[in-house]
Amino acid sequence: MSGNGLLTLPPELSGRVELMSMPECDSTSSCLKRLAPELRGDTVLIASRQTGGRGRMGRSFYSPEGSGLYMSILTRPDLSPADLPLLTPAAAVAVCGAIEELTDRRAEIKWVNDILIGGKKVCGILTESALGPGGEALYCVVGIGVNLSPPRGGFPEDIADTAGSVLTEYRPDLLPKLAFSIIKRFYELLPDVSSLGFLPEYRSRSALPGRDIWIIRDGSVLPARAVGIDDRCGLQVRYPDGAFETLRSGEVTVRVRQS
Ligand code: BTN
Repeated sequence: MSGNGLLTLPPELSGRVELMSMPECDSTSSCLKRLAPELRGDTVLIASRQTGGRGRMGRSFYSPEGSGLYMSILTRPDLSPADLPLLTPAAAVAVCGAIEELTDRRAEIKWVNDILIGGKKVCGILTESALGPGGEALYCVVGIGVNLSPPRGGFPEDIADTAGSVLTEYRPDLLPKLAFSIIKRFYELLPDVSSLGFLPEYRSRSALPGRDIWIIRDGSVLPARAVGIDDRCGLQVRYPDGAFETLRSGEVTVRVRQS
């Protein structure tokens, strides 16, 4: 991994979180889920490339070597089942803060799990939970993929119009520094996830409110206007007939309508 030698955890997490890295795996999230029965504490896994990077709704996540950070955090948060969906927006806030700490780029959040720079997706977040019999989380795996610089040969055709990268050129120190900062920020936010300490920043960074969007659900595509983020990180939308709905993450995809 480029800069692998510099990868470290914030000192306050030592003894509590383990850091692992590998040159290649199918998916850092799948790999951590397979390892979960043997892992005692929280674990962060970073891979230089993924051969089967996964996104929401069964989509793939393009993960070539040398241009991205592919990282998953296995954590055992003290959260009720109802609060588990808050992990993704909390992680989004952590990623945006880390990007802005280390670069001069302004990062926005496209509900619910994408980070945009200049309107292009530079990061996706996928949170998966293993649930116990009472619906409690045995563990959660928060997978974060960040396009740091343009891949050699460009992005594949199907994402060429929508994908972007944090920087226009490769910067060798960015991967370890960004990983460090994301991990630090994520663990700082974690104790206040259920009290929604991150919500004001999630709202202020949200790119959709005020925009016309398409809502894609169960094969149907509906026009709507995004009007806000509610107090549980739901996306509030208004339809052309005046009806109002609050969307929860689950099975909905949202696209900005180009005017
Ligand atoms: C999305 O865009 O829908 C989410 C993408 C999440 C990608 C990251 S990369 C690290 C981790 N491993 C995966 O297979 N997926 C996540």
